[in-house]
Order: sequence, then C-alpha cells, then structure tokens
Amino acid sequence: MSVARVTPRGAERWVRGHPWIYRSEVVEAPSEPGLVRVHDSRGRFIGQALYSPRSEIRLRLLERGDRPLDAAWWRERVAAAAERRRGIDATACRLVHGEADGLPSLVVDRYDRWLVAQILSAGLETVRESVVEALRACFAPEGILLRDDAPVRRREGIAGTPVEAHGSVPRQVEVREAGVRYLAAPWDGQKTGAFLDQRPNRVLAGRLTRPGGRALDCFTYHGSFALHLATRAASVLALDSSAEALERGAANAALNGLDNIAWREADVFDALRELARGLERFDTIVLDPPAFAKSRAAAAAALRGYREINLRAMRCLAPGGVLVTASCSFHVRLPEFLTMLSEAAADSGRRLFLRRILGPGEDHPEVLTIPETGYLKGAVVEAEER
Ligand SMILES: C[S@@+](CC[C@H](N)C(=O)[O-])C[C@H]1O[C@@H](n2cnc3c(N)ncnc32)[C@H](O)[C@@H]1O
Repeated sequence: MSVARVTPRGAERWVRGHPWIYRSEVVEAPSEPGLVRVHDSRGRFIGQALYSPRSEIRLRLLERGDRPLDAAWWRERVAAAAERRRGIDATACRLVHGEADGLPSLVVDRYDRWLVAQILSAGLETVRESVVEALRACFAPEGILLRDDAPVRRREGIAGTPVEAHGSVPRQVEVREAGVRYLAAPWDGQKTGAFLDQRPNRVLAGRLTRPGGRALDCFTYHGSFALHLATRAASVLALDSSAEALERGAANAALNGLDNIAWREADVFDALRELARGLERFDTIVLDPPAFAKSRAAAAAALRGYREINLRAMRCLAPGGVLVTASCSFHVRLPEFLTMLSEAAADSGRRLFLRRILGPGEDHPEVLTIPETGYLKGAVVEAEER
C-alpha cells in the first residue's frame, strides 16, 4: 500500500478525534487516489486512510491500527453502523452517516428493501466493490443504487450518473412514516430520494398540529411535512418553487386519501410577505428551507434570509399557534440560529415561547469532535394564547 506523510498539525487532528487531513498538511503522497498508510513527520505509522489527490480534504481516516482493510473490515464497519440504528421504526432511514459511522465519505440510505448509496470521495471510489459487497452481506437488499450524480463528486473528479450496483431499484419506493405514506424517488429525487433527516421532526409536527386548524408548510418538497399536518388540520397550504416536487406531493396526498392540501408553486419569501400582509393566520407553520449558507462567507447573508422568513412566519401565527423551523446550513450553527430566532421574535411584536430545540433523527448521529456530521438544527416556537 502507498504511503502518505503528514505535518504535525495534520497528525494532531486525528489525535483530537477529527478524521480529515487537509491538502496543506500533506507533505508526501502518491499521485493516484486509493488506500494509503499514513506516517507522521517523524516517519511513525499513525493509521490507514482514503486518499483523494484533487480534494481539499486529502486524507480521511479509516483505521488507526495495522489491520488489513479487507472484506471483513468493511463488513464489520457497516454492521456496526447497522447496529447503531437497531429499533428505528421506519421503512426508510439512514444506515451509514459517513464520518459519524467511521466510514468517511459514504452515505447509505434504506428505502424499504432497497439501498441508495453515495460514494463521495475519489479515495472511496477505489474501493467501490468492497463497499457494495459489505452492504450486500449486511442488509441483503433487493437492489443497491449508487447515486454517482451527487454534486460533490464533480469536485473529486469522479462525476457520473446513477447506476445499479446490485439487483434493480425501482424509480419510486413507497415509504411508511408513522401512519403517513409517501413515494421517494431514489433515482432522481434530491439527496438519495427524500429528506430522511427530518423524519422525527415531521412526526412531531404532525402531533403538534391543532386538530381542525389551518396549517402552512413552507418549502414542502414532495409534501413530507404537509402530509403529517394534513392528518389533523382542516386545511394545509403547501408551498415550493419546484413544480415537479409539488406534483409528487399531490400524488402523495392521493396515496394517503388526503384532499385537504392546496399545493402552490411560489417563492416562499414572496408568499410569506403576502400572507403576512393579508393578515392570514395559521395554527401550525413549518419552515424547512434549503441550506442558505453553502460556505462560512455566506453565513451572514443566510442569517438575514432565515430571519426574514422566520419573522414573517411568526407574524402569521394564530394565537397559540406553533412554528416548527429548521436550518440545514452547516455554516449556521445552533447558537447563531437561536440568536436569529430571538431577533426575529423581537421584530415580530409577538410573545413567543421556545418549546423545543430540534436536531436530526438518531440515524444521523453527530460526533462532537466532528462538527461536519451535524448540520440540521431547528426549534419549536409557540405563540402566546390571547
Ligand atoms: C430542505 S428541502 C424541503 C424538504 C421537505 N420539507 C421534506 O421534509 O421533505 C427544501 C425545498 O425548498 C425548495 N425551495 C428552495 N428555494 C425555495 C424558495 N425560495 N421558495 C420556495 N421553495 C424553495 C426546494 O425546491 C426544496 O424542495
């Protein structure tokens, strides 16, 4: 196996529990991607890693010891990830959450009897067969789809299109989520076909929905929150800028026999402004926007965006109404998100209670020493009953 040598600073990062070593911290490395043995500046072996020659993140730690990274090693890591999810009651959930499961740059989601995986680094790409074999051995799926169209693969020089690596995977898979059903789109839906990270928050939002009330789902995608809200509310207004996603939302409503959701193609910024101006009031509002901050430099502008939509949503809350609000921007951390919310609340002129702080489901574990494993944060805010 090839050898890479790293600076003391690079080696220190592994000691402190973070698996990445950056370009500037690598002093010697092979020219091709793959598995490498890593030495510190004094030539001591410190671990085995995935090497990506074009990535800012050059080395991703797999194993601190000398053990061969053979088929048994991959099977054990995948099995350990599966064990961490034991007891999750959903037909779709995350099975491997990359760095958090000791399998850097690998994402695997289950959709019923099928798996959808993303191999997100050039280093991991070189052991594609081992990954697929481990998934087959651990889960015996009917099919495995590799989403080689994931955008970050372009930066790694491994852009591609979705491909079946085992069996066959349907274009649509029905998912059951606490009494609600929806169709995920493994081949062409966002991420691996659905936003699985919000699963428990969708169930919670359903439970918090006022029976017979009016609900609003902003950034609905294929209606995953709206469906939960609609099982209790008298009416739901679901907003998204993607006509294609809304069409799938309407199909999902039909699948559940729900006819109380109005699907509207709109820019949420404009729509919320109009709803607030028109003194429209809702008992339940969900805000689940896309990541506004794609980089640290974009965080300030993103916070202004979050503040605007949260302020307008707060103004649209009926007395006693509940706002479920989230951000999936890694670069906006929880304290900044909560500060933004308190500023929006101050501007809203309403008295609002912070009822709960939200994160993703336990199938998306966050490791404290690897902040990148946690990006989704949110809150439940309740307006004073008057
Ligand atoms: C994070 S996803 C929502 C996921 C969804 N709530 C769920 O649980 O499945 C964000 C959605 O926002 C939509 N979107 C992005 N910008 C928008 C905008 N300015 N106005 C309306 N929708 C927008 C995207 O089409 C996408 O469906």
